[in-house]
Amino acid sequence: MNDKIPQGPYCAVFKSLTKKDFLSTINHHMLSFLGRDPQRAGSRDLYKALAYTIRDFLVERWIATQKGYYAKGKKRVYYLSLEFLIGRSLGNSLINLGFYDEMAGVLQEMGYDLEEIREEEDDAALGNGGLGRLAACFLDSLATLGIPAYGYGIRYEYGLFYQRIVDGFQMEYPDNWLRYGTPWEFERPQNLYPVKYYGRVQRYRNNKGELRTEWIETKEIMAMACDVLVPGFNNDNVINMRLWTAKASREIDLGSFNRGNYISAVQEKVQSETISKVLYPSDDIREGQELRLKQQYFFVAATFQDILRRHKKKHEGFDSFADEIAVQLNDTHPAIAIPEFMRILVDEESVPWDKAWQICVGTFGYTNHTLMPEALETWPVELLGRVLPRHLEIIYEINRRFLELVAARYPGRDDLLREMSIIEESPVKRVRMAYLAIVGSHSVNGVAELHTHLLKTRLFKNFHDFYPGRFNCKTNGITQRRWLLKCNPGLAGLITDTIGGEWVTNLDYLRNLEPYAEQAKFRQKWAKVKTENKKRLAALIKQECGVVVNPNTMFDVQVKRIHEYKRQLLNVLHVITLYHRIANGEDTDSPPRTVVFGGKAAPSYFKAKLIIKLINSVAEVINNDSRVGDRLKVAFIPNYGVSVAEKIFPASDLSEQISTAGTEASGTGNMKFSLNGALTIGTLDGANIEILEEVGAENIFIFGMTTEEVEAARQNPDHNAFTVYRDNPEVKRTLDSIGNGSFSRGDTALFAPIVEGLLNSNDPYLLLLDLEDYLRCQKEVGALYLDQPNWIRKSILNVARMGKFSSDRTIREYAREIWGVPVD
Ligand code: IMP
Repeated sequence: MNDKIPQGPYCAVFKSLTKKDFLSTINHHMLSFLGRDPQRAGSRDLYKALAYTIRDFLVERWIATQKGYYAKGKKRVYYLSLEFLIGRSLGNSLINLGFYDEMAGVLQEMGYDLEEIREEEDDAALGNGGLGRLAACFLDSLATLGIPAYGYGIRYEYGLFYQRIVDGFQMEYPDNWLRYGTPWEFERPQNLYPVKYYGRVQRYRNNKGELRTEWIETKEIMAMACDVLVPGFNNDNVINMRLWTAKASREIDLGSFNRGNYISAVQEKVQSETISKVLYPSDDIREGQELRLKQQYFFVAATFQDILRRHKKKHEGFDSFADEIAVQLNDTHPAIAIPEFMRILVDEESVPWDKAWQICVGTFGYTNHTLMPEALETWPVELLGRVLPRHLEIIYEINRRFLELVAARYPGRDDLLREMSIIEESPVKRVRMAYLAIVGSHSVNGVAELHTHLLKTRLFKNFHDFYPGRFNCKTNGITQRRWLLKCNPGLAGLITDTIGGEWVTNLDYLRNLEPYAEQAKFRQKWAKVKTENKKRLAALIKQECGVVVNPNTMFDVQVKRIHEYKRQLLNVLHVITLYHRIANGEDTDSPPRTVVFGGKAAPSYFKAKLIIKLINSVAEVINNDSRVGDRLKVAFIPNYGVSVAEKIFPASDLSEQISTAGTEASGTGNMKFSLNGALTIGTLDGANIEILEEVGAENIFIFGMTTEEVEAARQNPDHNAFTVYRDNPEVKRTLDSIGNGSFSRGDTALFAPIVEGLLNSNDPYLLLLDLEDYLRCQKEVGALYLDQPNWIRKSILNVARMGKFSSDRTIREYAREIWGVPVD
């Protein structure tokens, strides 16, 4: 037997390692880290021992990477995000180290299955959806491109809730992902910073007689760093995601303890530590709770102390700060960093205001993620002033100076002053965090072309007029390492065998697949991979939903957060329409479909949760109707998250991207589907438009109103969803069947809010106005699916033309155009 571990195509890391070394490392970790007898170890022990083994490799490379940054003195990038939706790390690390297949082989010889071992890892679900997953994809690209970058966030003890479906309803359970500990992090008790809250502001004169300000009588908690190492692909770069965990400032309050008040002493410790306890499960819903504000400030304050510590090691003063450091704010969640940095510079470092402001604006970039005004974050002045009194003062000062400039530019325009003020003068005064972020950053970017255009012309028009050039577009992307190479080994292997492996670090190489779309033999291989993936998903659906589905049917999939604007309900209306047609013998020529849903609803979002119930109720009726059989099946896969997604995208035929035009900022699920060979049915919204541009109109199914048409319809009091219902018998039959209890065992009250919402002409998401065109378009989809060679041809072309949607391209654009960081 060859004692050398076989080398993968990208492997540089394990060159000198023998199988014997490898086994003894695993055994060592099993014994000394886990205290387990290697001969009696189960797959969880093996998973952990394997993770520790890989972590050893990562940490050596991380130190070398960090030393390289110091040696080269390159500009550093700090990506601040309240969410990092990482998912699992074992498979990804093995892939990026170039050792996945080889490790699987070694484990097989030991009698273990790597796939099974990987299932032991809990997802790190430290994010809600697209925004958090984007941050995770960005870290992968930053590491792969060798950019000196750090992710900063919070190490939530409980990530996004675990979703179960009970009697068709979503039930939320705590996501206790740390219950067995996570082998991927390094706790850094030496990197501990105090974070202050409450207290009051005091002015005093220093010994030079200058008026100074200080923030006193505060309550303090401590932030401790936990580092998760993120390897680049095949390049020995390892970067750091530093997540903060809250610790009481003293283990227990000794004063209270000595007075015999043991319980209150312990209580203070518990309360301090709640700061990093749980991720807020909101998604495009405005949250305004004190704990959330404290979380935001907690991670920003700790992060800035860390940034400044590192800066001060090599630099005197702050003159070159913005040339040395770029800070990107992922949405407004970290925007309190702007007044925090000003407070540090002005109050603690005695930098004059104007100079401090120049440094501040030069340092920050802000990424906006939403088009919906109601999703923009604001904080009540009263709350912010109580928790962070000095920051509120600074925000007022920033606003005063900003409005002076506005007044000078537009004399007499009090309306503009009111509209652009960082302070909203509503009955409850609020701080508009998006405005603060725009004013305090040199760059404001949208996440798709349409989104950026709408920011400039609608949501932030006044600001775009005032700051020409500040707004720019960075269309989102996804990492092909996780979203093709790792999640779809069958397709990735076929592609690499056909055109070589360069696409893994340069996704534009996929273009070389185009000619193969015309070859019948290649198409057969392509179809075979898809069918195998569908068989695996069918097994998952059986296991998770108890529904038996046929892998030879079209897999029509919508997975994403459940939200009215994303219009899962529109999809349900199509499903019900199909059901009636099939059950009544009106449809004999459309291909059999398996319609798959997945996604979580915010626990407080009644309508979204009712939509989940409707999907499950409709599924129950259809799946049990013998007239239907395989012609139509519906499944709601519970607990949608990164790991479930990795199983769904490779098995999908049709990708549902059907939000109301002008509501979805970008979407990234749309890119993951296409990259795995699904065709898209979608509206002209978010990045769908750019997918259309890339793949060509003949390779995508577009329907529905444009953003302009949506706006016109909303402004037209005569537009009436009711007339669609009244005049289209098929639509009427569909809606009536929801209303009359056909899917709710005769209960007409359960889904009444849904039917009423649809027939109300104020329906903000205009479902019925798009429904007829959607039904038409779905017929086209069905017809094409029956022509399998053509369908597969288009599937290949979709993959071949996805080059633009690599997060490597996105990160290159951020680096060059926002951060001023050179990149190869
Ligand atoms: P930090 O940048 O201070 O957070 O340290 C991260 C890692 O970078 C350390 O564990 C060291 O390996 C390395 N490092 C820290 N300071 C220096 C330095 O001044 N020169 C070279 N490497 C350093």
